Amino acid sequence: MAAIVSLLALFILFISSSVSSLSSNYYDKTCPHLESAVTSAVKTALSNDKTVPAALLRMHFHDCFIRGCDASVLLESKGKNQAEKDGPPNISLHAFYVIDNAKKAVEALCPGVVSCADILALAARDAVALSGGPTWEVPKGRKDGRISKATETRQLPAPTFNISQLQQSFSQRGLSFEDLVALSGGHTLGFAHCSSFQNRIHSFSSTLDVDPSLQPSFASNLRSVCPAHNKVKTAGTTLDSTTTTFDNAYFKLLLQGKSIFSSDQALLTNPTTKALVYKFASSHKEFENAFVKSIIKMSSITGGQEIRLDCKVVR
Ligand code: HEM
Ligand SMILES: *[C@@H]1O[C@H](CO)[C@@H](O)[C@H](O)[C@H]1NC(C)=O
Ligand SMILES: *[C@@H]1O[C@H](CO)[C@@H](O)[C@H](O)[C@H]1NC(C)=O
Repeated sequence: MAAIVSLLALFILFISSSVSSLSSNYYDKTCPHLESAVTSAVKTALSNDKTVPAALLRMHFHDCFIRGCDASVLLESKGKNQAEKDGPPNISLHAFYVIDNAKKAVEALCPGVVSCADILALAARDAVALSGGPTWEVPKGRKDGRISKATETRQLPAPTFNISQLQQSFSQRGLSFEDLVALSGGHTLGFAHCSSFQNRIHSFSSTLDVDPSLQPSFASNLRSVCPAHNKVKTAGTTLDSTTTTFDNAYFKLLLQGKSIFSSDQALLTNPTTKALVYKFASSHKEFENAFVKSIIKMSSITGGQEIRLDCKVVR
């Protein structure tokens, strides 16, 4: 009996330590100027390159979906080990230098104290806010992981996923249908390469060349940018009509048959997710509130053990 009780106590301790270790004031004493240092690194990068916010938001998502938000996405391949960033769907990952610059600034202020995972979470928040989106308090106290494997990028949801595959991918990480729809709204920023939506515009099914849920003239445009045997590696299209502005245009376009990925379109194939798409399309405010709630949830999946000094290498 005593053994069962102590096991139970241990279990409860384990659960609570893995969910409640983050806090908004984590670095208040040890690194009070952390957040302004990160914001200024993001601002500087953004002033030279408008694609930086999208890159940082996607980088944070990839980080959190593999081994938790532990900056595993930032590690470089070493020896025989191929890191996540050299894995197959790394096609749009870029702007790693922004995190390196922020880390350098933070190390100068408070050496060895702040994790790369926290810096990435803050940079993603700044990326959204500086693009005209909402802002929020980022819970902090993540640790950096020591493992990054290219093969694990297979755990990321694919753009060809249907609604049940998306639901499974999100629920495995404690994320709901509402989180799925709200976070898919991240596709209000950025760019997609042809290979990511090729399945919808060429040989869609045995009988149809083009996905019939795509609005016809929108589909023709995509087909002219991305011909069947496209050789231009950089070719592709913006994810919504206002690619550097964080707004709810993504949801409005989705309802007009103008989404880019099958995984976006899939949100209309289930009554619950479809209702959420309508809600976010009709209210910018509802989208922002839901996005903030969901990204805090996603970014609170933790996994690391140490504080790296250089975000590219383990200590
Ligand atoms: C629901 C499952 C998701 C799938 C299947 C998915 C898939 C993709 C794919 C295939 C790309 C384009 C890659 C390329 O061709 O270059 C992309 C881009 C992007 N995704 Fe997602 N994504 C998902 C969820 C998310 C989430 C949760 C976020 C963040 C909240 C996000 C943010 C972005 C951003 C910002 C870009 C543009 C990146 C850039 O332009 O640099 N995505 N996504
Ligand atoms: C993506 O992976 C390839 C090798 O698989 C590598 O050459 C390239 O640098 C990687 N891209 C990024 C942005 O890390
Ligand atoms: C989604 O795809 C999986 C794998 O191909 C399939 O087993 C499942 O039935 C599909 N679900 C829906 C709702 O289409």
